[in-house]
Amino acid sequence: MNPGLKRRFQNRLLKWYGEYGRDLPWRNTNDPYKILVSEVMLQQTQVDRVIPKYHEFLDKYRSFEELAEASPEEVKQAWYPLGYNVRPLRLHSIACETVEKYGGALPRDHDELLAFKGIGRYTAGAIRSFAFNEDAPILDTNVIRVLHRVFIGSGGPKSQKARLWELSEALIPKGKGYDFNQAIMDFGAMVCT
Ligand code: ADE
Repeated sequence: MNPGLKRRFQNRLLKWYGEYGRDLPWRNTNDPYKILVSEVMLQQTQVDRVIPKYHEFLDKYRSFEELAEASPEEVKQAWYPLGYNVRPLRLHSIACETVEKYGGALPRDHDELLAFKGIGRYTAGAIRSFAFNEDAPILDTNVIRVLHRVFIGSGGPKSQKARLWELSEALIPKGKGYDFNQAIMDFGAMVCT
């Protein structure tokens, strides 16, 4: 990619985020547990509906250990009314695996994260960038829309996932994976709709 174009995109996006980025509760923490809970909730639910449940859920289950100790049925009830009920069960199973295999601390390694049932490439990237401050790429519908509009154009093919992952990774300014990823998600959710 043209380095000037890349730099301009990075700078303008980060500047926009500094001015208009949302102050969301999961942006005030780097606790991998809280980040994971937020990301699983946000997978199929709008931000406004996630916020109250995020607080409520974390008050009830404050760590991987506490979540692992609960029964899957109880966790499913605590999830209500968010829907897509396989999500609380997956979250619970990730908590159990984290406690059993890693002593209650989520690993930061890409392959180790991907080995969890219920953690895909997007969630692994979100955990690495938001909890561990790594320059790891993310790709969800918001990010795809932004990248598509800016770098591929409306006439481009719709489903080149590999290319979009490459773009998402190549665009991260060194050391700024956290802000850049939050920024591109906000831009996709708020402006590039
Ligand atoms: N959707 C998924 N993850 C998000 C995040 N960290 N902030 C806002 N929206 C999101």
